[in-house]
Formats: sequence, C-alpha cells, structure tokens
Amino acid sequence: METRYWKLKKDEPLDPQLESAAKLLRQGEVVAFPTETVYGLGADGLNGEACRKIFAAKGRPADNPLILHISEMDQIRPLTSGLSPMAEKLMAAFWPGPMTLIVPKSEIIPEVVTAGQETVAVRFPSDPVARALIRLNGRPLAAPSANKSGKPSPTNAQDVLQDMEGIIGGVVDGGACDIGVESTIIDTTGKEPVILRPGGITEEMIQEVMGAVELDPGLVSPDQKPKAPGMKYRHYAPKAPMFLVEGPEAGLGVIRAAVMAEAWGLKVGVLALDETVQHLPHTARLVICDAGKDMAALAENLYTELREFDRQQVDVILGEGVPTQGLGLAIMNRMRKSAGHNILVYDRGLFRKQSGQVPEFLQGMVVE
Ligand code: TXA
Ligand code: MG
Repeated sequence: METRYWKLKKDEPLDPQLESAAKLLRQGEVVAFPTETVYGLGADGLNGEACRKIFAAKGRPADNPLILHISEMDQIRPLTSGLSPMAEKLMAAFWPGPMTLIVPKSEIIPEVVTAGQETVAVRFPSDPVARALIRLNGRPLAAPSANKSGKPSPTNAQDVLQDMEGIIGGVVDGGACDIGVESTIIDTTGKEPVILRPGGITEEMIQEVMGAVELDPGLVSPDQKPKAPGMKYRHYAPKAPMFLVEGPEAGLGVIRAAVMAEAWGLKVGVLALDETVQHLPHTARLVICDAGKDMAALAENLYTELREFDRQQVDVILGEGVPTQGLGLAIMNRMRKSAGHNILVYDRGLFRKQSGQVPEFLQGMVVE
C-alpha cells in the first residue's frame, strides 16, 4: 500500500491541509497523526472494520483495547452509559489534555475497540491538529500509539514512517510531540480515581483536584496484573539489552558503568541527564544521548533516543533513573519496562542489584 505523507505548514489554515487525510479516515482507512503526547494511529472509532486495520498494522494483540479520541467535551456522552461525578470533575480540570478516562461503555461502540471490556477509554487531546482531524472525521477517532507493538512510541513523523511505511494509508506530519510520553489513564468506575498508566497529568495534579488518587497495584509491583491490558506487555523496548541505574547517585553510577562497559569492548548507548553527560568521556564507542536538563526534557526525548540507539546498533544501553515524583513516575514506568526491569541502584560508590539481570561487565562489582 502506498502511504501518503502530508507535511503541515505552520502558518496556513489547518482544515484544507487535512482534508485528504480526513477523507481517507472517513473511507475507513488508517492515518497516523500527531497529538501532544505521542503520534496516534487513527481510524474511525465507530467503524469496526476500520479499527480492525489498526490491530493488523501494529501487530497488536486482540485483547488490548483502543482509546477513542474526541474533539469536544460533550462528544463523550454518546460513548458512555453514564459518567460518575468523579469523571465530570476530572474532565473539567484536565481536558483537553494528556488524560484518558476509563468510563462505562455504551452500545454504539464496536466490540473490537473495547476488546471485551465493559468500559471504554476516552481522551480529548489538546493538540490542534488532532482536534481538527477528529472534527473533520465527524466522529471519534480510535488511536493507539503509532508504533509496531512492543517498540517505543513514535514522537515524530519519521519514526512513524519507520514502522508504518507501506502499511497504512497516510501520515500527517505536524512536527515533534510536546510531552513525549503517553497520556495518563485514569479509571473512573470505582470509588476513587485509579491511575492505570502514569503520564503528563501527574499523581500530584490529580491529588490536588480530587483529594484522593490511587495507583493501580500492577504499576507498583511487577507480580500484580495491571488493569490496563496493554500495560502487561513488554513495551517501549529498544533492540539492545538495557540496564537502568537508579538511586541517589544514579548519574555517577551511569558514568562508572559506561566506562566499565566500554573497557569490555562494547558499543555503549548512554541515556542520561545533561549534568551526567557533561562528565562522560568522549570516546568512539560511547553513543551519548543527552536527555536534557530536567524531567520534561527527558520525557520529550526518551523514545526518540531509544530509537536512535537502535539505529546506531549499540551493544548495550545504560539509562539514568530519576525520582518518581511528578512526571518522573511516568518516565520511570516507561524506562523500567524498556530495561526489562534490569535495575541497579548506585549509592555511596556501590552498585546494588534491585531486580533483573546484572550486566557481565559489572560482575563482581555488584552487591546482590
Ligand atoms: O497518549 C496516548 O494515550 C496515546 C495517543 C495516541 O493518544 N495513545 C495511546 O494508546 O497510548 P495505546 O493504545 O498505545 O495505549 C492505550 C492503553 C493500553 O494500555 C490499553 O490496554 C489501555 O489504554 N486501555 C484501553 N481501553 C481500556 C479499558 N477499557 N480499560 C483499561 N485499559 C484500557
Ligand atoms: Mg502504545
């Protein structure tokens, strides 16, 4: 299949630039588009046949439901059999924005979208391109992240094309995504709001508005089954094995591990904050990705950098862990999965094993 490509011009009206992409969507084809979080793989959300094409394009397991994206607040009402006061309050506080709500589904939603759940996931994005495209489609757009299942989510159109060229109807290129990690998913069907996937709307922000918020036990302990079906899969995974260094001296630990790995003759990808990167030696076998100066920059760059390591064909990846406050919770949720839970803690000059594998280049240096 020929994949069409539309590069949007910033200073021209959006609707005419999006019309042929919207037409493909109305015809039941799959089109990738930008949102403020990551690129989505869109199809008409009330057309079951169109949504099935999303699963085929991604190689997505059929038990993993899709998010429906809307372009106006009230567009959620026909999609649900009823909103709790909690859901209404969250909508008023955080929509449009990087928040997805789990609500009881209505009859009009195709089975394939909800994958057998009694609930449906709905999100009202803030990105103007996403909103215009949904409006031009005339109905909600179902859209998972636009990556092949298991790969890091794409945060720019080139990364989408890398996974989807020849497989989908088209890609709308609206530039790089602002936030860089997927939306916060909140289950609104219980007594308290429960975060099923951390994201740009943080636990602290929800706490402030709602007074209480819980984390899905599946997020906290790797042994518990997560409530969002998609969260159980190995995700966001680069090709090379990845090790995460956490703890009060994570940056120092990354530097030390990088030097050791290089001495072993490995080509090493390092994903670390500015401050750490400044202290790394510049040698040919170190591929250094400067993730930026703070958490927002790290979130924005995370998936692009992981894909860069794939392109550079590194042998091993070392990532610098950050505290799990604010956006840090979402970042660490993704990084720990990318690393397959290979986690070391570095504190007072010592490595300690937290979980997973210990890299062979550090063997004998790690307290188990
Ligand atoms: O930021 C985002 O949310 C992006 C952009 C494109 O909007 N979309 C996205 O979709 O991340 P996806 O399909 O990659 O992730 C959706 C997650 C999956 O983990 C899925 O299992 C969960 O939402 N989910 C969908 N419907 C659900 C439901 N009814 N109950 C629980 N979890 C649900
Ligand atoms: Mg995804």
